[in-house]
Amino acid sequence: MTEKDFVPKDLSEEIKEGKTTWQSPSNIALVKYWGKKENQVPANPSISFTLNSCRTTTTLAYRKRAKKATDFDFEVYFEGERKESFEPKIQEFFQRVEQYLPFLKDFSFYIDTSNTFPHSSGIASSASGMSALALCLMDLEKMMAPQMEKNYFLQKASFLARLGSGSACRSIEGNLVVWGKHRNIPGSSDLFGVKYPGEVHDNFRNYQDTILLVDKGEKQVSSSLGHGLMNDHPFAENRFEQAHGNLNKLQEIFRSGNLSEFIKVVESEALTLHAMMMTSQPYFLLMKPNTLAIINSIFSFRKETGLHLCFTLDAGANVHLLYPEYEKEETLEFIKAELLEYCEKEQFILDGTGDGAEKVELA
Ligand code: DP6
Repeated sequence: MTEKDFVPKDLSEEIKEGKTTWQSPSNIALVKYWGKKENQVPANPSISFTLNSCRTTTTLAYRKRAKKATDFDFEVYFEGERKESFEPKIQEFFQRVEQYLPFLKDFSFYIDTSNTFPHSSGIASSASGMSALALCLMDLEKMMAPQMEKNYFLQKASFLARLGSGSACRSIEGNLVVWGKHRNIPGSSDLFGVKYPGEVHDNFRNYQDTILLVDKGEKQVSSSLGHGLMNDHPFAENRFEQAHGNLNKLQEIFRSGNLSEFIKVVESEALTLHAMMMTSQPYFLLMKPNTLAIINSIFSFRKETGLHLCFTLDAGANVHLLYPEYEKEETLEFIKAELLEYCEKEQFILDGTGDGAEKVELA
């Protein structure tokens, strides 16, 4: 597939008005995307677990405009209230995807969105939000081109979501998704996420992710800025190479179910991501004292119990705690007794791997 394959050829059905609703999950990367080229092409391949509970629901209402127009016409609502501050991001997204959705200027849109997780929780809503919107837009395209195949629908939704926010392309399907060309992963592409095609051991079934909300404040540094700092980063080439190597290791780990090796790759990826931030120019530091306290506590817990709890981090201070379902009881007991004290107002989110986005059928 190339970009050109996503330019629609036959939009024959006339659509006047209607609405569609999609619910899309967040995802948590095991091998991180950090650094990009032009047009949202990732500097290295990444892989993530699709989550289940952290979701965005987006309704796209559309009405054909009376005359052909030269501008986009849309309003964005968050939980029923107009949210003009979200609109520049959607405007930019529409500009980026217009060549692939040439009908965008023919409609007036109302976009209403809500999250299952607290908005200011420091949990990125761009992955779930952009993927939900991309799916709504694909639904509209599919109405104009009813012969569209499911695989194309999903690939193009991921392709569009990527143009909104890179990691969003990994939120369409479940529950392990690869994005970025990797020589040993057939079908992998820089343009969209694909379901991980290899064998996956039962140890990873319904893998748990408990998210500790350490710092719910606004991000100090946007992801886009952070990605940009990889351009002249002294360690960039080695880092990108390392990500390819870690994906090779994960392929073997997914097959064998070796959780000790899984932990080594996943935690190293999280710390490398933050090491890249700490060694860019300008440098920045997103971990908080409580992030480090949690990490150290996990190390001790593992040593004492031999269980397989590990952590990963996004571009922020919150900690994702990953562990197998069959160790859930003891692990959760430890989390509640020892780790919640490091969270803002003891807040946390119980999540696990999920099957990807879903259309919400309106009654
Ligand atoms: C640290 O997808 O938010 O979460 O493409 O600029 O929107 P943009 O960046 P974004 O970057 C996410 C980076 C990360 C790692 C990851 O999810 O792979």
